[in-house]
Amino acid sequence: MEEDRGAAMRDFPVSHRNRNRTLSCGVLPLVDRGSIVGNMFYIEDVTELREEEARLKRAEGLASLTTMAAGVAHEIKNPLASMSIHLQLMRRQMQGDCASAEDLTESLEILEEETERLNNIVSDYLFAVRPQNSRPLPGDLNALITELVQFLRYEMKGANVRVFPLLDESVPSIPLDEGAMKRALLNLIKNAISAMPDGGELRLQTKREGDNVIVVVSDTGVGIPEELQGKIFEPYFTTRDTGSGLGLTVVYKVVKEHGGDLHMDSQSGRGTTFRISIPVPQSERKLLSGGEK
Ligand SMILES: Nc1ncnc2c1ncn2[C@@H]1O[C@H](COP(=O)(O)OP(=O)(O)O)[C@@H](O)[C@H]1O
Ligand SMILES: [Mg+2]
Repeated sequence: MEEDRGAAMRDFPVSHRNRNRTLSCGVLPLVDRGSIVGNMFYIEDVTELREEEARLKRAEGLASLTTMAAGVAHEIKNPLASMSIHLQLMRRQMQGDCASAEDLTESLEILEEETERLNNIVSDYLFAVRPQNSRPLPGDLNALITELVQFLRYEMKGANVRVFPLLDESVPSIPLDEGAMKRALLNLIKNAISAMPDGGELRLQTKREGDNVIVVVSDTGVGIPEELQGKIFEPYFTTRDTGSGLGLTVVYKVVKEHGGDLHMDSQSGRGTTFRISIPVPQSERKLLSGGEK
């Protein structure tokens, strides 16, 4: 005789002598030569086990938060130091009355760049540690991409990047945490622009493949050397002087929170393609297959 181990166990909270305990309960059918010949009721007090599990989970969460915060503090130091130097320089130039418009403009440009860098570090960090939005709303990925293209059009023009939006109007709306998804796509597009210092082509595509919505961000830039491809999603990994190294960490987190997958394909010197795949919810699938009849 065997127990059918596939039977589900469930936790039940109970109160005993003013103490809350957790009991794990289940019914295990006893199987003999393929037929059920009896049942075994199984009850176990798992209070301590569950408390230990919860404690470990909290400790893990806190540890990763601390590591990330330490990383951010470190990343912030460089731009702050550079800003401080240029402010001192400007003050000296103005006090000595030898401030040329050219010198001042150069310092101001650096201050602007460093402010932008600080802003990116802090925004990416906040998105990386922020709790998941529990109420994603049906959203339109095409509209979101169109908005980003509009937002970045001068930056792309200045960088000699030609953008090709290939948006499939028939992709269904999917539950979206819009702020987070926008940040994720912004990071992918900004990475693509940085990868094309001499200009190039940026392809932004949406399409439906089976039960998934696909978003492709593809560039004709410098590519990622094979030995670095396993590292780029690590927090704080960057090859750029002004990078936070948190961009792809945020992208990965946001895609996972939407129940999706992220793939990267890159060839050194040729370009890089990121492909996000997000499942279409059941309700939308039925609607669509109904419409096809
Ligand atoms: N489209 C791309 N083309 C080439 N390299 C890329 C691309 N996207 C990301 N990378 C590489 O991955 C690294 C990490 O990216 P990311 O996490 O966004 O941090 P950051 O942009 O701050 O460096 C980049 O520094 C770069 O080396
Ligand atoms: Mg980035």
